[in-house]
Amino acid sequence: QMNEVEVEAFSTPSYACQRRTTLDNHNAVLTDALSLLAENAELSDEDGRGVAFRRAAAVLKSLPEPVTGLTQLRGLPCLGGHSLRVIKDVLENGASSEAEATKQSERFKALKVLTGIFGVGVKTAERWIRDGIVGLQQLQLSERPLNRAQRAGLRHYEDLNRPVTRAEAAAVAAVVEEAVAAVLPGARTTLIGGFRRGKLTGHDVDFLMTHPEEGREAGLMPKVVSWLDSQGFLLYQKTTRNSYLEAKDGPARPPSNMDRFERCYSIFKLPEEARRGGEEARRGAEEAEPCSGAAAASQVKGEGPKPWRAVRVDLVVSPISQFAFALLGWTGSKLFERELRRWAGHEKAMSLSSHALYDNKQSRYLRASSEEEIFAHLGLEYVPPSERNA
Ligand code: CTP
Ligand code: MN
Ligand code: MN
Ligand code: MN
Repeated sequence: QMNEVEVEAFSTPSYACQRRTTLDNHNAVLTDALSLLAENAELSDEDGRGVAFRRAAAVLKSLPEPVTGLTQLRGLPCLGGHSLRVIKDVLENGASSEAEATKQSERFKALKVLTGIFGVGVKTAERWIRDGIVGLQQLQLSERPLNRAQRAGLRHYEDLNRPVTRAEAAAVAAVVEEAVAAVLPGARTTLIGGFRRGKLTGHDVDFLMTHPEEGREAGLMPKVVSWLDSQGFLLYQKTTRNSYLEAKDGPARPPSNMDRFERCYSIFKLPEEARRGGEEARRGAEEAEPCSGAAAASQVKGEGPKPWRAVRVDLVVSPISQFAFALLGWTGSKLFERELRRWAGHEKAMSLSSHALYDNKQSRYLRASSEEEIFAHLGLEYVPPSERNA
């Protein structure tokens, strides 16, 4: 055709850690479809397919403009046949028939609901589904034995499936900072995870704690947890102690992607007053009395609005010598982290973890006291947290 407008093809490097991915996604319809298929793959024990869809979605998230035609995608990395078929379907029909069918499928819906319970993984959900349990009511009626985490997850299901706002994250941060200041003056608390990347909402709030003097952070977690508990802020907590020193498999290479820091997976009881955030957070926490007529978003049956909400909170402690690695490893996104490790291994013959960076060619650890230094060791341009939203 003579007068066809030439649309320029996009181009982008192949590792997500070489790209800048802000929250300003110009291809949300496409990436929503691919992310849903990724989630379905992950819920079906098909992690390889899941990663492939996640990588394809991440490439589209990094593009400066909406995709309007398939020809623009020629030469882009990480777009396999399956992902391209999904993209084509969305571009031509406005939606992906595969994503829509998945969304409607009973199995996907049941897996979503059941794994939406804190403490329930894919394996457990599958077992229940095989026994005909596909919803919360059936689960409760079945009188299945639930562990402590699952009981808490079920009890606070509604709150924990409602996104946490920035104001709520700030209120939690004020509480955690007060706890840390009370039990170990001089210790530092840093917001990590999605909120550090600038997300407006999250499924939880993540914090990294350390102390500027190496070793002083030892014992911090149990003290923080017992302070929080004594003030009535904890609905649930499970602390896992540091297993890094006992690891026999080399510090940069734990057996899984799990790191070995002392951590605490918890559920906070965040008072309604505290949720207004800022300075009020502190006061709210101190006067922890249920306040009159507070407009709680959810109801406790028959008891009127409840003056607090449950919030998932993750706490991690690292020694200062590993702080930069922990900060980088816990800021995410999960795909960005995965891509950093893949880049390190495949392109640089290095092993990166949330504890250390090991250079296999030089047979030595590379020290770093900032994220910038780690990117430099890896031969990557520095990517700030707000641009790690792959
Ligand atoms: N992480 C980890 N080990 C875990 C859990 C999480 O290293 N056992 C890391 C993840 O790789 C991620 C970061 O911690 O980089 C935050 O994880 P998570 O809270 O699950 O995700 P967010 O990016 O914060 O997004 P969300 O809003 O869903 O919480
Ligand atoms: Mn998080
Ligand atoms: Mn988390
Ligand atoms: Mn995102």
